[in-house]
Amino acid sequence: MAGNWKMYKTPAETVAFFEKFRPLVENSSHCEIVICPSFTNLQAAVGAAKGSAIQVGAQNVAWAKEGAFTGEVSGPMLNAVGASHAIVGHSERRQYFNETDETVLKRTQGALEFGLTPIVCIGEVLADRESGRTEAVLAGQFQKGIAGLTEQQFAKIVIAYEPVWAIGTGKTATPEIAAETHRAIRAQVREKFGKDAADSVRILYGGSVKPDNAKVLMGQPEIDGVLVGGAALDPVSFASIVNF
Ligand code: 13P
Repeated sequence: MAGNWKMYKTPAETVAFFEKFRPLVENSSHCEIVICPSFTNLQAAVGAAKGSAIQVGAQNVAWAKEGAFTGEVSGPMLNAVGASHAIVGHSERRQYFNETDETVLKRTQGALEFGLTPIVCIGEVLADRESGRTEAVLAGQFQKGIAGLTEQQFAKIVIAYEPVWAIGTGKTATPEIAAETHRAIRAQVREKFGKDAADSVRILYGGSVKPDNAKVLMGQPEIDGVLVGGAALDPVSFASIVNF
């Protein structure tokens, strides 16, 4: 159960969130919990999560260890502040910051090389869905991105399926649509990495996940977890999703 805070919250607001959130998920041993704040809040989040099972992730990661890459933050830097995960290839990065399947692959490899668990995002836009091209688009993102990993690398990633038309719009994919799309992604995985990899990879759903739809989404066997934006900013609502 992962929360993507996007570009929200200060360090003080981060600490305040954890104070309220921690007791609400103290007994939530049925799942892993990851919160991904902005880079500037990572240290505060790791400190505030200390002693709990809550893990902290970044929202992006560079492919290089260090160097002349203004504005980038590397895997070793994230490790050094105690982050364990990194979101890679979020649709907002693809849409506004020219992230491509190629850079998504490089960043995923960068995360893995430096011991972070990448949460690799794929998803179609509304026009793709409406023109019946969803599976082709996802297959393209998979082939050009994730499929470039080795089997050993693939075994360490988490995939997040986020239909772009469902992000921040209040339009959730129906559980059936989400499950069907997860099945199609899993079929791609099976074809490239084999049955065991397909059976064990975790595929999260993201896009307008809220306390009132988390249970039915999580009720789909194909959906292994969720990547939550807006509803993860509030401790009570994210805890209620975690404890669906
Ligand atoms: P919302 O939950 O706000 O729709 O955002 C989803 C998302 O983009 C998570 O990465």
